[in-house]
Amino acid sequence: MSQCKNISIQDPESLREMLSLSGYADKAIDYFINKTNMGTLPDADQVTELTGPCGDTMRIYLKLEDGRINDAKIQVLGCPAAIASAMATIDYIKGMTLEEALKVQDRDIFRMLEALPDQKQHCIRLTIKTLQKAIDEYGSKDNQEGE
Ligand code: FES
Repeated sequence: MSQCKNISIQDPESLREMLSLSGYADKAIDYFINKTNMGTLPDADQVTELTGPCGDTMRIYLKLEDGRINDAKIQVLGCPAAIASAMATIDYIKGMTLEEALKVQDRDIFRMLEALPDQKQHCIRLTIKTLQKAIDEYGSKDNQEGE
């Protein structure tokens, strides 16, 4: 008989165990399961979507005040690492100026997640690129309005 334990992704404890065995730290698992920053902002100043080479898609919503990120949300169609990275990134950038947010690096988000499986570390990139695209688009909109 097989020694494999029955793992059900419907059961949070089972899912936690599965992610942990795959190399996700508890912190990353919490971000993935709680999905605290998942959603939309109806009054967002900038909404930007990006699909990565893997086919996963993120849509970020930024609410800005005096050049600062006052609030943000993100929708993710993607893997657990993409979701965890997106949730952590939103926590990280809230309150930052756009210039500061543009400088956020993969390693900043990795530090927040504590550990991801090696083959999933690239998933952080999709969040960072979505954020950078949003800031670029907001900047060019701002320039057009000033013309
Ligand atoms: Fe696409 Fe993780 S596999 S972001």
